[in-house]
Amino acid sequence: MAIQAILFDAYGTLFDVYSMGVLAERLFPGRGSALADLWRDKQIEYTRLRTLSNTYKPFWEVTQDALIFSCRKLGLDLTLDAQNQLMGQYAKLSAFPECLDVLTRLRERGMKLAILSNGNPDMLEAAVHAAGMDDLLNAVLSVHLVKKFKTAPEAYQLGPDTFGLAARDMLFVSSNAWDICGAAWFGYPTFWVNRANAPMEELGVTPKGSGTSLNDVLNFVGAG
Ligand code: LAC
Repeated sequence: MAIQAILFDAYGTLFDVYSMGVLAERLFPGRGSALADLWRDKQIEYTRLRTLSNTYKPFWEVTQDALIFSCRKLGLDLTLDAQNQLMGQYAKLSAFPECLDVLTRLRERGMKLAILSNGNPDMLEAAVHAAGMDDLLNAVLSVHLVKKFKTAPEAYQLGPDTFGLAARDMLFVSSNAWDICGAAWFGYPTFWVNRANAPMEELGVTPKGSGTSLNDVLNFVGAG
């Protein structure tokens, strides 16, 4: 059966997190990219630890914990003001330039569209609204419902549960290679938006499709 719905990862896939590094550099000159990199790694590491040990807490808090640790590790003095600025940036990320056009064209083709993200509902709603995406999505699915982060199967199960479709009839789109692996293991066809020309993880997964921007998703599903 042809693809009937598309599930998108949020951060780095639809929302451009580049501005996080820019702000980090402004706050900590010369250390911005080190902070942004460690912060992102720790954020994902903490989601995995919490899921493995059944100690869920919302992604917003996990993200804040990862920021505090990363600054401590790098010897950066994180004032409350800097913390609020960096966390606040998460709520007002811009969408990638091609994003709204691609979502619009997919909707015109009758595709059902949703976000499936580790983000908790409040932070996702804020970002969706700030990016002007409210009317383009059929659903904004947060792992908060199952209190397990991706790559737990329960998180990916939100897609079939929401749309009443089999995973094989939905496309999972992410810029994160680890997320592509989790989604493929769950049973989705996957499309990797490899914006950074990164190598694929060595986990025995090959995405069904890949490209360098969301525009390539249009061609993949025959809506280009
Ligand atoms: C998400 C992060 C992991 O949106 O990008 O789930």
